[in-house]
Amino acid sequence: MSDVLCLYYSRSGNTQNAMEEIASALGAELVRLDDGRDRSGWRGWLRAGMDAMRRQTPALQPYETERPLEEYSLVLLGTPVWAGRCAAPIRGFLKEQGRRLKRVGYVLTRAGEGKCEEVYAQMDRYTAEKHDLCVSLRPDSVGYVFWRDQFVQETLRYLERG
Ligand SMILES: Cc1cc2nc3c(=O)[nH]c(=O)nc-3n(C[C@H](O)[C@H](O)[C@H](O)COP(=O)(O)O)c2cc1C
Repeated sequence: MSDVLCLYYSRSGNTQNAMEEIASALGAELVRLDDGRDRSGWRGWLRAGMDAMRRQTPALQPYETERPLEEYSLVLLGTPVWAGRCAAPIRGFLKEQGRRLKRVGYVLTRAGEGKCEEVYAQMDRYTAEKHDLCVSLRPDSVGYVFWRDQFVQETLRYLERG
């Protein structure tokens, strides 16, 4: 059983790829979160933006983790940036479970140049403790692999410190 849990939502695959890579490098458990809302196509894009702006959080579909959240050494949450915010299913998860998270890290994926670092503090509002680790990745950018690998190394050092 892994000591690290990677939870993520992904609309179009970028966050999923990043979290798969990170979870594999860390030997972590990987679980996808979804609220079952159809966000495909341009209508789905609009819906995603509206959900994020209104901070709407449809109920999550059932998901399973190997252990209770409190028992992991670290929980990493992966989310795309939507309109300068975290994705609605991740906000939904944080609303429901955030108070159970003490050792937490965030993985953002984004399209723009800006790192959208304000999203970290938004997510921290729901957690028991502020995040210890974070990275903002821009898929297909020149720096993607560098920043991803640096985050993995930083996470491994964090886990070693205990
Ligand atoms: C509704 C919506 C709003 C978005 N807003 C932003 C944004 O504010 N800043 C940004 O850099 N990227 C933004 N993006 C781009 C996504 O964050 C980026 O493509 C992300 O990697 C998608 O991840 P996914 O493939 O896992 O869904 C937005 C995408 C969508 C669908």
